[in-house]
Amino acid sequence: MHTKNLKDISKLSNVNKNYDLTFTKSILFGLKARQKTIESKWLYDENGSKIFDAITELEEYYPTRAETEILRKCSGDLAQFISPDTVMIELGSGSSTKTRLVLDALPALKHYAPLDISKEYLEVAAKGLSADYPSIEVTPIVADLTNEMKLTSALEEMPKLIFFPGSTIGNFEVNEARKMLRRIAKMKHVAALVVGFDLVKDTSKLIRAYDDSKGVTAMFNMNLLTRINRELHADFDLEMFYHEARWNDKLSRIEMHLVSKCNQDVYLLEACISFKAGETIHTENSHKYTADSFTTLSKESGWAIQDIWNDEEGLFAVAVLKPSGEFCLVSLA
Ligand code: AVJ
Repeated sequence: MHTKNLKDISKLSNVNKNYDLTFTKSILFGLKARQKTIESKWLYDENGSKIFDAITELEEYYPTRAETEILRKCSGDLAQFISPDTVMIELGSGSSTKTRLVLDALPALKHYAPLDISKEYLEVAAKGLSADYPSIEVTPIVADLTNEMKLTSALEEMPKLIFFPGSTIGNFEVNEARKMLRRIAKMKHVAALVVGFDLVKDTSKLIRAYDDSKGVTAMFNMNLLTRINRELHADFDLEMFYHEARWNDKLSRIEMHLVSKCNQDVYLLEACISFKAGETIHTENSHKYTADSFTTLSKESGWAIQDIWNDEEGLFAVAVLKPSGEFCLVSLA
């Protein structure tokens, strides 16, 4: 395998000014690693986001349904954290259905700040919400969850309810999740953090949720190759890869992989990537917690548990956390 030095990639942008340098670097770097990897955030281009919406409606994909049930039943309880100048900050503002459920249950809430990396996405979401909730002031924040999350000084001074639904936290390695939770705990004037996480359960149920019978999740995963073909002029043969969902017991997570069916070379830009038959590209992690393991993680990250809510079937959980002011490790396990 030979690839162009990363330093030379910026020169390639002269060839085609349309592709994003961050994307290019990330893909080339990931595919040159020993375990080939594609960062999961690249799953969500326009097409990928649409396929993801279809996933949330699958019978086998229970998390969205379970979390919606929990929020419908419990979000009224969050009223205790709301004062007239409280802002609800939503991290990675995903499905607006969930936001609306919470806003409906909290009529005293007058400020809403969705935070996302995608400016375009935020603008559309903010417009829709403002139209339906004219009495709520909507302040979109363009920021990357995995980085610093810089707030304006006006927002910084406001009392906050932080809303982090969707079990997006499960995408992060445990160390990264801890770092992010600590960063949120150190924000000023946080009354509570409401965070959705998926629970460890029967492995076959987990696998079915990430490898559904209609092949929608497979399409979601394979769309990465379509995207790389289109945006980086690669020649992935989609017939020569298949989708696989694996349970990693040691790390308590579902992993998505794209498996090569044969020995093959794939060209993208000026790089040649060689695959052995059975070799995979690791494309996503979805960590699963127990109430106990999530409690430990929270305590290590500056939070005290106020509540953990479950759906009737006990498939999913939403935790209500309050800043504890303590950041020491409570357990080395
Ligand atoms: C959006 C990260 C919560 O991990 O369940 C769904 C993404 N991937 N099916 C999840 C996903 C495959 C989803 N999250």
